[in-house]
Amino acid sequence: MAPTQQKALLLPKKQGDWVVGPTEVPTPGPGQLLVKVEATALNPIDWKIQVYGWFIENFPSILGSDAAGTVEEVGEGVQDFAVGDKVVFQGYFINPQATFQQYTLSNADVTAKIPSNITLDEAATIPLGLATGALGLFDQYADGSAKLFPPWEDGGRGKYAGKPILIFGGASSVGQYTIQLAKLAGFSPIITTASLKNTQLLQSLGATHVLDRNLPSDALLVEVAKIAPTIDIVYDAISLTPTQNPAYDIVAPGGILVLVLPDQIDVAKKSAAPDKKVVNVYGNVNAPDRRKAGQSLYAKLAALLEEGVIKPNRVEVLPNGLGGIPEGLKRMENDQISAVKLVAHPHETP
Ligand SMILES: NC(=O)c1ccc[n+]([C@@H]2O[C@H](COP(=O)([O-])OP(=O)(O)OC[C@H]3O[C@@H](n4cnc5c(N)ncnc54)[C@H](OP(=O)(O)O)[C@@H]3O)[C@@H](O)[C@H]2O)c1
Repeated sequence: MAPTQQKALLLPKKQGDWVVGPTEVPTPGPGQLLVKVEATALNPIDWKIQVYGWFIENFPSILGSDAAGTVEEVGEGVQDFAVGDKVVFQGYFINPQATFQQYTLSNADVTAKIPSNITLDEAATIPLGLATGALGLFDQYADGSAKLFPPWEDGGRGKYAGKPILIFGGASSVGQYTIQLAKLAGFSPIITTASLKNTQLLQSLGATHVLDRNLPSDALLVEVAKIAPTIDIVYDAISLTPTQNPAYDIVAPGGILVLVLPDQIDVAKKSAAPDKKVVNVYGNVNAPDRRKAGQSLYAKLAALLEEGVIKPNRVEVLPNGLGGIPEGLKRMENDQISAVKLVAHPHETP
């Protein structure tokens, strides 16, 4: 039985300082689960909201988008889950579905059981990163996607065999899941950019060519063209100006560039080559317009994990439960994270 009060990491006001404090344990509505959050992962959006004051107007607020834990209570109408199930799901910063708290709500239709080959910590690395890769390339129902056929659906595996793809930022969480989805879809070659120390990891996930992220744009264009002269799909998992501009240069006329942050491509570059499509992904399987693709992904997620075709990110567990999150977010802000997902255990909060 869950308690009525719990600890959460609270953002007391816009751009305020994080504080661990009490909050109520929410009650699951129809179609929802109350989950004991045993592991939650940190994402760049969490520090960006705190530092830039984005999105949130009601305070105190709780953030956090990734969780794994145990079902404590099952809402009305939920058939597929029972108390005690180990589950993984994407929370979001519309409280009470945020994950930087000890108990939270998940929508059962976009929740998956965790197979025994994946730990709770590993599972917590999956939701936001995977959703952003999956919905950016394979959401057939919403704009803001390349609208390719999903590799997790029947007939999807290998559908794009022999087609090249370029993924900027392969070592990022989003990049790692995008590489794996691209491999499942058959793309080849799979070219990515990263610090070269991450080459082996990215090759193990499916990258065929890892190019140094520090190459100047001109040199990068030359290297990519040697591997694949025409690339119709480019996914920019970093989406800062230094990656968006070469990404736009590289995508072929008639091709699609997927961005994870707002479009900052040089206006002159775009008007010189207007026949390239740029889409901006919203990686949230809970969002109404993303839900249908999210449901289709989550229906297959446990099987993909069990088969090992989607592998979680590497994990670093932070000390002090929820109290360790602010320091972790600072490291993310300072660009001190490489090919690892920071994970916190809310029930280890002092
Ligand atoms: N639109 C959405 O819905 C959505 C959803 C999720 C995330 N995002 C955004 O997507 C971005 C990535 O998020 P994430 O969680 O995947 O980040 P992350 O895991 O924290 O990214 C860290 C990695 O970024 C790589 N990196 C940084 N600059 C790079 C560059 N110029 N070229 C190549 N690699 C570079 C580093 O690679 P090396 O270690 O190899 O140097 C590092 O491993 C963030 O800006 C985030 O806010 C958007």
